[in-house]
Amino acid sequence: MKEEIQNIPRHVAVIMDGNGRWAKRRFMPRTFGHRAGMNAMIAMARKAKAMGIEYLTVYALSTENFARPAEELEGLFDLIRRYFTKNVRDLYAEGAAVKVIGDISALPDDVQKLVCEGVANSPADAKFFVILALNYGARSEIVRAANAAISRGERVDEDAFAALLDTHGVPCPDLIIRTGGEVRLSNFLLWQAAYAELYFCDVLFPDFDETEFEKAIAEYSRRNRRFGRV
Ligand code: IPE
Ligand code: IPE
Ligand code: MG
Repeated sequence: MKEEIQNIPRHVAVIMDGNGRWAKRRFMPRTFGHRAGMNAMIAMARKAKAMGIEYLTVYALSTENFARPAEELEGLFDLIRRYFTKNVRDLYAEGAAVKVIGDISALPDDVQKLVCEGVANSPADAKFFVILALNYGARSEIVRAANAAISRGERVDEDAFAALLDTHGVPCPDLIIRTGGEVRLSNFLLWQAAYAELYFCDVLFPDFDETEFEKAIAEYSRRNRRFGRV
């Protein structure tokens, strides 16, 4: 019998890694892998919502990824364009919203515009949020927050500092999943990850299907979170 998952995380964040290797194995360009990755991401969001997860953060483009060849970046920008012109409509129709973290000012102007519209047009009463990390780097986010505090001229405590981060208003991730076999965070949510459960798997992201996602959530539900207590 299928295991009943008792304990559903409120916020799951995913480092969607392995698209390039997935394409390479098929003798295809990396962009082909990113396209397959986007389909996997859309299916994962649907599954997350169906399971009762409230926030799904997806690492789609890191600050470091900006050093990749122009051709690959253009392919990624095209996917972002497609997501914000087409796929977000399905999210809205299901009462879900999209949010963005990262410094989008480095993205092409038309992409910035689409992203801003996509966030602004989201339903106000959403119960499920897809949070896209675009040109996101935790160090950049923390430095931007520190500078915001300095320009206000106020000392901050942990809560006040968290309110200056891109993730303000969003609870910290309960679970961070990384696909693709690497065991590192690669500059993802370094502040917010303080007490996240971490789950690493070898599956390349385009192959990370509903069953794999459910496996990660089931593993999370068996973890004992102590937050430093006994
Ligand atoms: C992750 O897949 C997606 C992005 C970074 C945009 P990769 O492109 O890093 O794929 P691999 O790690 O090279 O297989
Ligand atoms: C992390 O994957 C970034 C995203 C998934 C968007 P990378 O492929 O960029 O990470 P490294 O270079 O292996 O650490
Ligand atoms: Mg990678």
